[in-house]
Amino acid sequence: MSTNLTTESTAEKSPRRKGKIRRVFRWAFYLIILLIGGFAIYAWATGARQEPIETGDPHMKAVVYTNYGSPDVLEIRDVKKPVPNDDQVLVKIRAASLNPLDWHYMEGTPYIMRAMGVGLRKPKSPRLGVDLAGQVEAVGKNVTEFKPGDEVFGTGHGAAFAEYVCANKTKLVLKPANLTFEQAAAVPIAALTALQGLRDKGKVQPGQKVLINGASGGVGTFAVQIAKSFGADVTGVCSTRNVDLVRSLGADHVIDYTKEDFMKSNERYDVILDNVGTQPLLGFKRVLKPKGIYVLIGGGGPNDGRLVGSLARPIKTMLMSPFISQKMGMMLAEIRQEDLTTMANLMQSGKVTPVIDRAYPLSQIREAMKYLEAGHARGKVILTIEEQNKT
Ligand SMILES: NC(=O)c1ccc[n+]([C@@H]2O[C@H](COP(=O)([O-])OP(=O)(O)OC[C@H]3O[C@@H](n4cnc5c(N)ncnc54)[C@H](OP(=O)(O)O)[C@@H]3O)[C@@H](O)[C@H]2O)c1
Repeated sequence: MSTNLTTESTAEKSPRRKGKIRRVFRWAFYLIILLIGGFAIYAWATGARQEPIETGDPHMKAVVYTNYGSPDVLEIRDVKKPVPNDDQVLVKIRAASLNPLDWHYMEGTPYIMRAMGVGLRKPKSPRLGVDLAGQVEAVGKNVTEFKPGDEVFGTGHGAAFAEYVCANKTKLVLKPANLTFEQAAAVPIAALTALQGLRDKGKVQPGQKVLINGASGGVGTFAVQIAKSFGADVTGVCSTRNVDLVRSLGADHVIDYTKEDFMKSNERYDVILDNVGTQPLLGFKRVLKPKGIYVLIGGGGPNDGRLVGSLARPIKTMLMSPFISQKMGMMLAEIRQEDLTTMANLMQSGKVTPVIDRAYPLSQIREAMKYLEAGHARGKVILTIEEQNKT
């Protein structure tokens, strides 16, 4: 009898519970639709608003782009020379450097970037360029660290491909006297990525075995030298034509990836810095020591999956990491003034020397970007700003 009652009440409860579950799912579904809708409206609204290109006198030359696309969307135009606010420094730019980040902005890829505030259909900001070196021309009233005439390097608010830029005072440091403007401009993003990847994520210690995958590019050429300055035993991976370059930077061992697959070697590494990001994660795991650390810097190129691009890989590393003894993760570099100073000291002492592949005048920004996009830069690609500045 009691069994029957229990069965009946379970039978009564069951449709009620099912109804409840259905209601929860329905509301969760509405909530997700609402969130996606809200996000799409936000993305559409931000995408529709392109910052105006300011014109007028005094003017200067700057790279502008009003649509996403190939390097052909880039133009040199006369725009209004900027005026620094209280915390800014007006820098007369002498050299700027290109980074893969710039072509991501130019192409609007991976597309997910557009929905994250970069501009859905058109770039929200029509200006480009981060890394720079130049001379201080004027300072805002809260700036006591710099004065007109100082030679500086750092980053320029996404508008460094120009004759002048207003940079935040916390994103600049004094340029060491032994560096040219071109060398100093090569530093910010690439060197800080290498420094933070090796020191903060990789926690590299003297004597450790460190492998730099992609040792001949912008990040890689800094990484080899920085890892050596930490006292590591460094292996650089590059193609045949770059073997001598990577060895000249101080690498103890060089692997030519066209002839040898380091993933099949018997060597085991404490830290791997991966600037290529296209090889199987399990292969990296195989050549890491049991407590080794894999730091994903980046990878892929313009032909990568356009929706999320190389962003799929960090997700895979995050999913894999909890199930293995090694640490696998990615990093995003931050432009910190103290790290720019660390790099300035390393360069002043001669422990690190920026490697410059090619320098193009500002007017050849399209050619420079095409070269970088091809993915075979040897060190950094630089823009030099001609002495045609108007004051
Ligand atoms: N996470 C961050 O904060 C951050 C910051 C900066 C950059 N990144 C990313 O890091 C990556 C590297 O940046 P980068 O400035 O160094 O780029 P880059 O200067 O364009 O580097 C290109 C280099 O990669 C090498 N390479 C290509 N395929 C290779 C392979 N299979 N094995 C070894 N080397 C290979 C090329 O050498 P060969 O010509 O010999 O092939 C070339 O020297 C990019 O994807 C970039 O977006 C991320």
